[in-house]
Formats: sequence, structure tokens, C-alpha cells
Amino acid sequence: MDIKLVLNKAAKEIEACDSQQSLQDIKVAYLGKKGKITELLKSLKDLSIEEKKSKGAEINSIKEEVEFLAKKRLSEIKIKEINSNLSKESIDITFPTPKYVGAKVHPISKTFQEVISIFGSMGYQIAEGPDIETDFYNFTALNIPEDHPAREMQDTFYLDGKDENNLPLVLRTHTSPVQIRTMINQKPPIKVIAPGRTYRCDSDATHSPMFHQVEGLFINESANMSDLKGTLVEFCKKFFEVQNLKVRFRPSYFPFTEPSAEMDIAYSIVDNQLQIGEGDKWLEILGCGMVNPVVLSNCKIDNVKYQGFAFGMGLDRITMLKHGLTDIRSFFSGNLNWTLMNGFGLGDF
Ligand code: DAH
Repeated sequence: MDIKLVLNKAAKEIEACDSQQSLQDIKVAYLGKKGKITELLKSLKDLSIEEKKSKGAEINSIKEEVEFLAKKRLSEIKIKEINSNLSKESIDITFPTPKYVGAKVHPISKTFQEVISIFGSMGYQIAEGPDIETDFYNFTALNIPEDHPAREMQDTFYLDGKDENNLPLVLRTHTSPVQIRTMINQKPPIKVIAPGRTYRCDSDATHSPMFHQVEGLFINESANMSDLKGTLVEFCKKFFEVQNLKVRFRPSYFPFTEPSAEMDIAYSIVDNQLQIGEGDKWLEILGCGMVNPVVLSNCKIDNVKYQGFAFGMGLDRITMLKHGLTDIRSFFSGNLNWTLMNGFGLGDF
């Protein structure tokens, strides 16, 4: 075949193509193992040395030309795709079109509402504490004294200010300090959950510097590990809307509970979708245990008469699991699609 004709044909096809996939197909058709230009190069072997030199140079320059045209077209196609996505996603927030009048609840807020409603139906009340905590509530009272290696488990944001005892102020690294505040201010029996914001110096697809937890605390004269297990399994069945939920409790360590455990739920991937409840894979979703008697006595609660359990669960994590999302940071990117009706492709929450 005439070499120039091959180039002309390739150039026309590249010019006309408008998707990355069809461009890739064209590249294979010309430059792939069995591509037209590759075949031309292979046919050189039957020619004389002189011919090889001149034809070879010609074919190679055509090959380079096709590669160049394909590369140029690829960047044009990419720009076109970005522009088309941008124009599809742009929202004129000043324009009162009926399409956008509806608002929906952000998935994390929805999880807050569901968690409160499920534990509320089990008789738990809501407890609160400040985001800016003192070293005492966030660590010491929870049996994490200074120099305790457990302080290293959490990358803490320390603030410039000091509390009235001249101890450091921190952004709370977990909701566990609300346990302490509640036990200091309330007499047993105690049955509370504390949902709220928490902070750690960490950021990747599964960690955000600001995230959410819910703490649970149940203190009376007889609460035990099996009550704890029953409560958490019941919560998960309701939250994930599954009747058959395989769970496992693994021994773990937290300074504020003894014994401590982590709870995993079973899952499988079916047709690229995460199925919670059954399967042979495990996901860790929370830490829990029996409240350490030292913590009870730190809060002036009689640790012979009273006992109880506590748990702490990542709310962003269970939201991602429930809706099959993979990047925690997308929740906090300010994307209006989370909160506007008819959002694009994020599903209905
Ligand atoms: N505060 C722990 C964390 O953030 C989670 C936790 C574990 C809370 C065990 C608890 C508990 O109340 O009993 O990693």
C-alpha cells in the first residue's frame, strides 16, 4: 500500500474521532502489533539494503507523524471532555429554576438523624461536649496519662491556649471525653450517646482531619459484655437495613475499657457492589468494651457498685459503607450536589 495513503487515512480518522476509546482503537489499528504501519515496517525485511534505508526512513517518519497527531488529538479530546463535564455540572445558584428548589439532607446529617433515632428507640439520651477540650477530659480522665503510649495512637491538634490548670487545650480526638463529662455531672444509671465532630491530623481517602463519631455509654449495676453485643448488633441491623448480619468481636486495647474489643461486620462484593451482612470479608466499624473501673473512679462513681459498657463508632465510615462511597473527603468538599435535589449521579440520600 502507498505509504503516503496510509498517513492520509490515519490523519483523517484521527481528526474525525471524538472519544478516548475510539482514538485508542485507531492507534491499535495503525501502530499496534498487527497495525498497518507495523506491517509496513515488517515488510522491509524482504527489500535490498538500499531500499530498506530509504523506505525505512519514510515509514518511520510516518509512524512518528501518526503518533504526534494521536497525542495532539488526545489532549484536545480531554479538554473537550472536561469542558463538557463542567458545563453539565455548573449550577447557576442565582437562577430560581424549579429544578433546584428542593433540598436534601447531607448524608452525614442523615446518619446523625438515623443514629439518634435508633439509639433513641433503645432509651439512650443525647449528651454533648465541646469540640475544644482540655487535656484532662480528652486524655487523663480516660486513663491516658501524659507519656502514655496510647497518646501516640491519635495525631492530636494542640491549640495555643491553656485551660485554667495551665494544661494544653486540644481539638477533641474522639467523642470519649463526653463520657467523662456525663459521668461527672450525672449519677448512674446512665444511658447516653454523644454524636459529634472529632479531629485528627490526618488526611487521605479514608481519613479527614475533621470527622464524626458517636460515643455510647451505659452504666448501671449489672450491664455486661453480652448487653453491649446485643445493643451493637441491633443497631447495625437497623442502620444497614439487613436482617442477617454476621459480626465478630476481636479482642483489642483501649486504656478506658477493660476488656476491650473491636467489632467487625461481614461483607462481600457482588457485581461491584458492597453487600453488608454476609460474606467472608470483614470491616472494622467500632471500638468498645467494659468501662475501666479506673475511669469510673476518676469520675467519682463507685466502681464496686456500678459497671457498664462504652463504644465509639466512626459515623463517616458507616455512611460510606451504607452508600458505597470511597473517598471520605468528598463529603466535606462543599459540593452542592450533596444537598440539592436532582444532584448529579450521587444517588438519592
Ligand atoms: N475513642 C476510641 C477511638 O476514637 C473509640 C472507642 C473505643 C470508644 C472503645 C469507646 C470505647 O467508648 O469503649 O479510637
